[in-house]
Formats: sequence, C-alpha cells, structure tokens
Amino acid sequence: MSTRRRVSTRISAISESATLAVDAKAKAMKAAGRPIIGFGAGEPDFPTPDYIVEAAVAAAREPRFHKYTPAGGLPELKQAIAAKTRRDSGYEADASRVLVTNGGKQAVYEAFATLLDPGDEVLVVAPYWTTYPEAIKLAGGVQVDVVTDETTGYLAGVEQLEAARTDRTKVLLFVSPSNPTGAVYSREQTVEIGRWAAEHGLWVVTDEIYEHLTYGGAEFTSIATAVPELGDQVVILNGVAKTYAMTGWRVGWLIGPPDVVKAATNLQSHATSNVSNVSQMAALAAVSGDLSAVARMREAFDRRRQTMVRMLNEIPGVLCPEPKGAFYAYPAVKELIGKELRGRRPGSSAELAELILEEAEVAVVPGEAFGTPGYFRLSYALGDDDLVEGVSRLAKLLAEAH
Ligand SMILES: Cc1ncc(COP(=O)(O)O)c(C=O)c1O
Repeated sequence: MSTRRRVSTRISAISESATLAVDAKAKAMKAAGRPIIGFGAGEPDFPTPDYIVEAAVAAAREPRFHKYTPAGGLPELKQAIAAKTRRDSGYEADASRVLVTNGGKQAVYEAFATLLDPGDEVLVVAPYWTTYPEAIKLAGGVQVDVVTDETTGYLAGVEQLEAARTDRTKVLLFVSPSNPTGAVYSREQTVEIGRWAAEHGLWVVTDEIYEHLTYGGAEFTSIATAVPELGDQVVILNGVAKTYAMTGWRVGWLIGPPDVVKAATNLQSHATSNVSNVSQMAALAAVSGDLSAVARMREAFDRRRQTMVRMLNEIPGVLCPEPKGAFYAYPAVKELIGKELRGRRPGSSAELAELILEEAEVAVVPGEAFGTPGYFRLSYALGDDDLVEGVSRLAKLLAEAH
C-alpha cells in the first residue's frame, strides 16, 4: 500500500469556509422544515438591478462572447473599472493596471500568490475575514495577527502594527470597512497607517469591496489615494458583489503596479482564463452606471443596523460596538461563555452558536471563524421582520443563561 497522502499537505491544511458552512447548515435545516433565521450570509438580500441583468441577457446572445476573451478581462470593462475607481476613490490607474478576476476572492488569492515568497510575513488585523488566512498560507506566507477588540471598535493603531512588524514583514493587509466587524478607519487613521507602511517599505494590499457601505457620517477613505507615498507598492482589491447585489455573478478585480498585474494575469491565464463574458458585461453595466441602487440598499442596511445594534446591546452579557460600515455586527459574548443554558454549559463561542442554532433556530457565525473566539458575527443583510424575530429569539434564549 502506498504511504503517500491522498490529499496533499498543502491543500489538507485549508479549512472549510466557516461562514459558508454555517450558512449551508442553516439552509439545510430550513429545507428540512425548521423555521431558521440565518444571520450568517455575507450577501445583500436584494436582487441584482434589472439594467444589469438586461446587459447580461444581451451579452449571452452575442456570438463574440461565446468565445475565449483576454485572460485579464474585457478591455472595455478594464477601462470602466479604471474610470469607476477614479470617480469613487480618486485613485488614478489606467486600464493596463486592472486585472478582472472571478470575484473578489480570486483577487485575494492572486494578490498574495503574486506578492509572497515562503516565510514573508503579512500583518493582518484580527478579527479578519475567513478567506485571508487560507490565501496567505497557500502562498507560503506567514500571517501575523494584530488583535483588536470591542474597546477600540476593532481598530488597530500604528503602535500595535509596529509591535508586530519584523524584518520579514512584507505586506500590510488593510480592510476598511471591515468584514466581520464593520469597523471603518477615519481619514486621519488611514493616513497615519499608510505613512507608517510607506516609511517601512511595506506593501499594502487593500480590500475596498465595502467602499459604498458606510453609515452615520463615517466615510470610506482609499489608503491608495490618501497616501501617495505608498507609490507602486499598493494593490487594490474590489468587486461588484456587495455594491450591486451581484454575489453570484463572480466578478472582482485587482489594481496594482504593472509587474504585479502582469504576473497575476499569467497565473490567472493558467488557472481560469477569462471570467465569464456574460458576467463581465453585467459588471460593465454595473460599474458604468450610477450608484442609486447601492444608495437604496444602504438606506435599508442602515435602518437594520441601528435596530440590530440596539437590540443586541439590550441582551445581558452581550456588548456590540456600533459598526460603521459593511453589513455586519460583531458583538462580544465572552460573558456568556461557561454559563449554564438549557442544561448545557458551552465552553466557547462556537459551542454557544451551535446551541443557539438548535434551541433558538437562529444561525450566527462564531468568532472562531475570524480569529477571535468570544464573539459572534451577525449579518444585517436580511429582511427587517426576520431580523427583529431572530434577535428576539436570541435575546429570549440568552436571558436564560446563568
Ligand atoms: C472583505 C471581503 N473581501 C472580498 C470578498 C469577496 O467577494 P466576492 O468573491 O464575492 O467578490 C468578500 C466577500 O464576502 C469580503 O467580505
């Protein structure tokens, strides 16, 4: 018998996406007839706007889109992404510095695969989105966590970053608005962090996918624009998923210096070739149109955000700082761990989340998925009535903890 592993060491080390797993479990329980309310999903509950869908239908009828197109993206889409970036964040990059990817996720993978050699360190502010560690690991990089908590609204300062920097640090990952916490760095904080990175010659990979979802006076600042000192050591990640309710269409992009974009395009040319042309044409309609659809979604998300945060903070043992962006709340539930609840004593936020799913039929993602046990992530991208019902069930159950 062969002693070789069936699945390689590298790929065995990748964990299942915890957020997708919670979502899948909740959906399966729902399909089995249980009245589950899911706070797990990382996607808008709105359909894609009609004019975008129409552009896709027209593209599907066009024979030239039935064929392979350039691996790095349709030239007209790359042009439109460059123009949209100029419009929304003031960042100047021509179309040759844009690579169209299969969702923001592929942009994340390609950015780290292109920048990291084995042993290169990446500073990652925790709580972090679940995909980053896997992409960094697969590229041979070493993730160094910079852990934040509710007392600072999950924001990291330069001193904390500096304490984590070593002579092997190559990249700072900067995500604002943040998934999972909804934290948004102010312009001043962004500039301070960007200048510190530039001073130490670090690359900055910045994920701007939630750029249009900020609330209560908070404003998105692109670190790439605000800190010109970063020069050509900045890679912007973005996509249409969250802004235009297009999670299923799988279009994202990466903007970077020519050598990085060229190398990442080479990688993509062997991995996936061009992104589906139909989806690219839908994305073209999205990014060349106005922002009225996201303005309407933002209004609904803001209302739900306020309701959710108020209700969560009324639950004894739960502390939820106000999220300023994206569509997630990230309450601390540390005080509830180890208490008795329905004859059990959950010893972690993961166990507490399991118990909540079974007893209250409410799905939340435990903080373990984001590098910080003791917390939950709840998405408020779901209908108002479901949101109130779900948090009420949570409150009722958690009130029994003693
Ligand atoms: C912070 C962040 N970046 C990137 C993505 C990637 O989105 P997609 O691959 O759907 O474009 C997500 C999706 O959840 C996200 O939360």
